[in-house]
Amino acid sequence: MIHKITRLHEAIDNLKASGSAELEALRIKYLSKKGEIAQLMNEFRTIPAEQKREIGQRLNVLKDKAQAKISELRASFHDEADKSVGLDLSRTPYPIPLGSRHPLQIVQREICDTFARLGFHIAEGPEIEDDWHVFSSLNFPPNHPARDMQDTFFVQSPSGQIVLRTHTSSVQTRTMEASRPPIRIICPGRVYRNEAISYRAHCFFHQVEALYVDRQVSYADLRQTLLFFAQEMFGADTRIRLRPSYFPFTEPSAEMDISCNLCGGRGCPFCKHTGWVEILGCGMVHPNVLDNCGIDSREYSGYALGMGIERIANLKFRVTDLRLFSENDVNFLSQFTSAR
Ligand code: DAH
Repeated sequence: MIHKITRLHEAIDNLKASGSAELEALRIKYLSKKGEIAQLMNEFRTIPAEQKREIGQRLNVLKDKAQAKISELRASFHDEADKSVGLDLSRTPYPIPLGSRHPLQIVQREICDTFARLGFHIAEGPEIEDDWHVFSSLNFPPNHPARDMQDTFFVQSPSGQIVLRTHTSSVQTRTMEASRPPIRIICPGRVYRNEAISYRAHCFFHQVEALYVDRQVSYADLRQTLLFFAQEMFGADTRIRLRPSYFPFTEPSAEMDISCNLCGGRGCPFCKHTGWVEILGCGMVHPNVLDNCGIDSREYSGYALGMGIERIANLKFRVTDLRLFSENDVNFLSQFTSAR
């Protein structure tokens, strides 16, 4: 028995295989159920008891060695195969991890698509703006608090003072200066305000502005557009309510509430038991704004509205800490999927 074990040790030391088929044959020869080592194990039952301990140990060592040798040969074939094929660094890793759209993008697209169905076109403008487009053209008086250093990021440049736009309303006047009515635009984009960052305020966020200018545009047109928008975004049962408000660039101005989409308007902690949640500002374009852009306010009228995308996203997805939108935490972002 000892002799057979020694012989097998030598055979295993000298094992060689030139391909995986040959290696498999060796594995069967030595390690399968009917292989040589298994046969020795069978014989082991018949040996005298006093030899069992020593021979048992030797058999175990032999078996381990055979297994290690076969694995070693198999690994060397893999290495060879890799070398012969060469590394293809352009190969796509599988499975391909698919990203998802950012929740703000999902909401922005939905808003823009809804207005697109009413004939609105997307218009964009610069984030780095001048005072005229962000404030003066929009009828802000020279000492209006919104111009205050507290709210606005002012940047001193060689060509004078520039501002980071505080709202997308600046795209309104840029578009009106450059085109003639009828104008129907929807303007998504990032805006900046000099605010301390907290769960409910950030120094940058996103807005969508809509503007419609034509002959005889009325407050009724605005109201109907708002109702259509609210029901498309939040469901056919959604009701709207317009409360009088003030913006320098619209007259009259209003803020729009929708019936709380959590409790259906019955009242809950989210809507502070009022049944309503505010979602946007709007109004009829102030005649001064039209005139500032070279559009005759005696001939044309228009309505405008603006909303925060984070606010709508909060209503749709219940994200109460708006810092999450800009932290790029994959665990957060991967919860949002969109068909589009
Ligand atoms: N620009 C306003 C803001 O940033 C939102 C707004 C209100 C836009 C009324 C409008 C409007 O076009 O008519 O809070």
